Amino acid sequence: MSSATSPWWRDAVIYQVYPRSWADADGDGLGDLPGITSRLPHLVELGVDALWISPFYRSPQRDAGYDVADYRDVDPRFGTLADFDVLIERAHHLGLRLIVDLVPNHSSSDHAWFQQALAAPPGSPERARYIFRDGRGPDGDQPPNNWRSKFGGSAWTRIKEADGAPGQWYLHLFDESQPDFDWSHPEIRAEFEDILRFWLDRGVDGFRIDVAHGMVKTEGYPDAPEKYDLAVDPTASQPMWDQPGVHDIFRSWRRLVDSYDGDRILCAEAWVRPDEALARYVRPDECHHSFNFGYLMTPWRATDQRASITRSLEAVRSVGAVQTWVLSNHDVVRHATRLAVPQSTTSLVGGIGPDDPQPDAELGLRRARAATALMLALPGAAYLYQGEELGLPEATMLPPEARQDPTFWRSDEGDVGRDGCRVPVPWEADRPAFGFNETGATWLPQPEVYGPLAVDRQRGVPGSTLEMYRSLLTLRRDRGLGRGELRWLDGFGPDVVAFVVASAGRTTTVLANIARTPLVLPAGATVLVTSGASDRELPADTTVWLDGELSASQVHVPGV
Ligand code: GLC
Repeated sequence: MSSATSPWWRDAVIYQVYPRSWADADGDGLGDLPGITSRLPHLVELGVDALWISPFYRSPQRDAGYDVADYRDVDPRFGTLADFDVLIERAHHLGLRLIVDLVPNHSSSDHAWFQQALAAPPGSPERARYIFRDGRGPDGDQPPNNWRSKFGGSAWTRIKEADGAPGQWYLHLFDESQPDFDWSHPEIRAEFEDILRFWLDRGVDGFRIDVAHGMVKTEGYPDAPEKYDLAVDPTASQPMWDQPGVHDIFRSWRRLVDSYDGDRILCAEAWVRPDEALARYVRPDECHHSFNFGYLMTPWRATDQRASITRSLEAVRSVGAVQTWVLSNHDVVRHATRLAVPQSTTSLVGGIGPDDPQPDAELGLRRARAATALMLALPGAAYLYQGEELGLPEATMLPPEARQDPTFWRSDEGDVGRDGCRVPVPWEADRPAFGFNETGATWLPQPEVYGPLAVDRQRGVPGSTLEMYRSLLTLRRDRGLGRGELRWLDGFGPDVVAFVVASAGRTTTVLANIARTPLVLPAGATVLVTSGASDRELPADTTVWLDGELSASQVHVPGV
């Protein structure tokens, strides 16, 4: 599967399984590990290299498992450690690698260490593992600083001391049920190295590192700047994100994973700007991958796409790393819906609810297919999110009473949150819960439109989104696109993204038409795969892969 000169992860396609919503073997409405095991053949058919599974550890599930109470056990709702061992054994047997999620920035407030901290007095060793501080103001009733939780509200919660009196405050960059660890404490470092070993010893092929840019905070916890523009300001200008100290942690973890055989990897979830700062996470002695969220947020406009791809490739080249490409995950609006809303840089990731303008599903799917076909031709590794291979749209009509994401509650229902991309996936249109389980129970309601998009309705159907993904993944592998070199093609006009990828002695031309008018391909062109319906015409929002190099003079380009 890999060799010393070309490790598997340099061009891998990794599929994200969100365990709550992929497959539910016990029928309780929440997916589980035996469910994942039973559906692994789907990933083999699809043609991915690995799966990454979002957290399945013991957790009160206040943030869908990103609130871990015990890092070394499986939550009974998802199964047992024995179920995990069966899953990994089966995955490896099928030639799939398996990556697990590591949540090191914070634990659940149910974690034994946090419970001990609450019971112990201020200044105690138990409190030192988290970030407890006295409040400001004469009575200490103001939070220690002005930091805000990512889910809304203050990032500090005040506790009652053992005697019932109002006490210290603790920091939580997310929900109040997710207290941040103090990563300057050696015990935290030692504990996480031990947790890494626990899962490496069980055979995992790597870790996706949650909130990788948040573990180290600026000393003294100064106030955050009043004015901060997410779209332009460097992430590190805020005292809780992208601080230099995080890199020491990755260096030590890299040494640790490298001490195991089999090319195990680290992938950083780091929402960091600019690209050069993000590239520091993938220096040779740090992580192997870092999600390219700048690309995910790039508007579906040819100039933006070209600029984003160019910037992304340059940034990683400077450190000798590979770039990753991603369009959807469990935190953002699915790209089959996101690409149908107005393409400004600010409106691309927040949730969409019943009171918002409803996206044009047909336009969204067409663009999503074109965007995926563009993405899977790019050099580097790619991450897919469950259900995108079916063209699933976001569930935008979830009623308030169905919502579970803490963002919804912490923002006073102002931000509908991320439930819309987390709805259980459809497997067989005519079965209960579209085949998610046998009982029909689902922790979030599935929209009716998921039925016709079920796997069994698309498998073997020429032109279906599922078959398009399978073709893209087969061709990508056969033609070595992930290991290729990208060269831009000129002359196709400002609204066409046009490039060739040369690899393994073969050249592939990729054209993504984001113009309103169709392109007409020359009669002799060999179409390898298209996101559209016809081999000759490339209508708006369509991507095609062609064998060999095509020059603009061979193509009818309107207006050029
Ligand atoms: C990451 C996860 C997200 C979670 C947050 C807090 O961003 O992807 O789902 O809510 O961290 O752990």
